[in-house]
Amino acid sequence: MDIFDKILADHGKIRGLIDGLEAAGDDERCEAYTALKDFLLCHHDAEQETFFAELVQHAAARDDAMHMIEEHGEHKKIIEQMDAIDPRADRWEDKFAELKDDVLHHIDEEEEDVFAVARQVLPKSVAEDLGVRMGRIEGGPG
Ligand SMILES: [Fe+2]
Ligand SMILES: [Fe+2]
Repeated sequence: MDIFDKILADHGKIRGLIDGLEAAGDDERCEAYTALKDFLLCHHDAEQETFFAELVQHAAARDDAMHMIEEHGEHKKIIEQMDAIDPRADRWEDKFAELKDDVLHHIDEEEEDVFAVARQVLPKSVAEDLGVRMGRIEGGPG
């Protein structure tokens, strides 16, 4: 699986976990939140160590990559704020709405704008190698 398919598969899972948290009742909210948080942070880290570490080395893709890395940091900040609030509070739901909007916008931007540039600068063999490495970092089959 090359890096593009790997990231697309992860993003599909992230979209599903967001839907799951949105649909979760009070009893399931903690579990659904933890599942989303753990997977999202793991995805961001793995993406940074592979896809973006490679893209920052290409002048045409560097600005996009830096912008995406910055947004990962913003998601982490919102998650830290959510961790400090009671999940039953209205404020927590407001923060989740913010996280959801930011993350969905971010993954759309990655799939559209960043992929378009990345497909131009990454040779097929490199894209394959990055996909395998990203899978390994996440602990999955790749
Ligand atoms: Fe990302
Ligand atoms: Fe991503």
